[in-house]
Amino acid sequence: MYKELLEKGYLEKKIDPALDLFEEIAHLKKTKNAVILAHYYQDADIQDIADYIGDSLGLAQQAQKSTADVILFAGVHFMAETAKILNPSKTVLIPDLKAGCSLADSCPPIPFEAFKKQHPDHIVITYINCTAEIKALSDIICTSSNAVQIVESLPKDQKIIFAPDKNLGAYINKKTGRNMVLWDGACQVHEIFSLEKIVKLKATHPNAQLIAHPECEAAILEKADYIGSTTALLNYSKKSDCNEFIVATETGILHQMQKASPKKTFIPAPPNNNCACNDCPHMKLNTLEKIYIALKYGEPELKMDEKLIEAAKKPILKMLELSAKFGL
Ligand code: 13P
Ligand code: SF4
Repeated sequence: MYKELLEKGYLEKKIDPALDLFEEIAHLKKTKNAVILAHYYQDADIQDIADYIGDSLGLAQQAQKSTADVILFAGVHFMAETAKILNPSKTVLIPDLKAGCSLADSCPPIPFEAFKKQHPDHIVITYINCTAEIKALSDIICTSSNAVQIVESLPKDQKIIFAPDKNLGAYINKKTGRNMVLWDGACQVHEIFSLEKIVKLKATHPNAQLIAHPECEAAILEKADYIGSTTALLNYSKKSDCNEFIVATETGILHQMQKASPKKTFIPAPPNNNCACNDCPHMKLNTLEKIYIALKYGEPELKMDEKLIEAAKKPILKMLELSAKFGL
């Protein structure tokens, strides 16, 4: 019943505009013993009500540790799936079930299985930005925080398939001197940056450093002063003596950067047209209203097949085990 009303957007429209959603959400969190985990790409107000904000690795680690009965995941579908895989008995809510990921969509299971068959003797390392079905076909999951270390932990002659992000894969190949076979996938947000506009921007801001996420194309990464996951970029911006940064990743991270370093200047790297394409349209489907409704009605809840959970859990646990070993 609620599900139907929710899908039609009826519940959202019915919210009293006088309601203080920050207060209501805080109250619902307490009464339901719920925790809100949010990715850095969420809108600033969602980041501000979250119990934990982080990158994909931090969020998976928090999900594993959580003692709450309910996890509300303010991120995208594959992130909520990871939380559910690590907590099958908990209720995992996602404010909008349509919050997907172009990168995860670029790697469907049937062609990926065929790709695997073409490369026998290869270990499959898969970026966490993929569906549970792809995780179930993988040996080790990684994120942008631990990918290089995970690849380096394998013997030099180990043949590896890396999926689904070809840009992150090419970056790791360059960093480690490996020759991993890459799946041809990419993120629509990180592929949109304009090298030409970045070069021009650098010319007008000669003291600014370009900091970039490894999902960006090689031409952008070549010009970058620093490359890292969202958490690594945030930490770098805090520690660096530089006062101005051009940030080549989704714009949501600028909220935490600006909060941590109010005197520094953060400029979003320009996309190759005039749209707001460096805002992830999937991440931005989540709103405070939808979070309020999800906590109030317990919908939309992420449900998953038990066998799929078991199969997808193994490579995720392997990643968490290795990350703990690396001190991440
Ligand atoms: P990280 O969270 O690992 O920085 O990855 C960014 C991203 O694209 C998440 O969708
Ligand atoms: Fe997927 Fe890219 Fe959005 Fe991250 S930013 S959720 S990789 S589409």
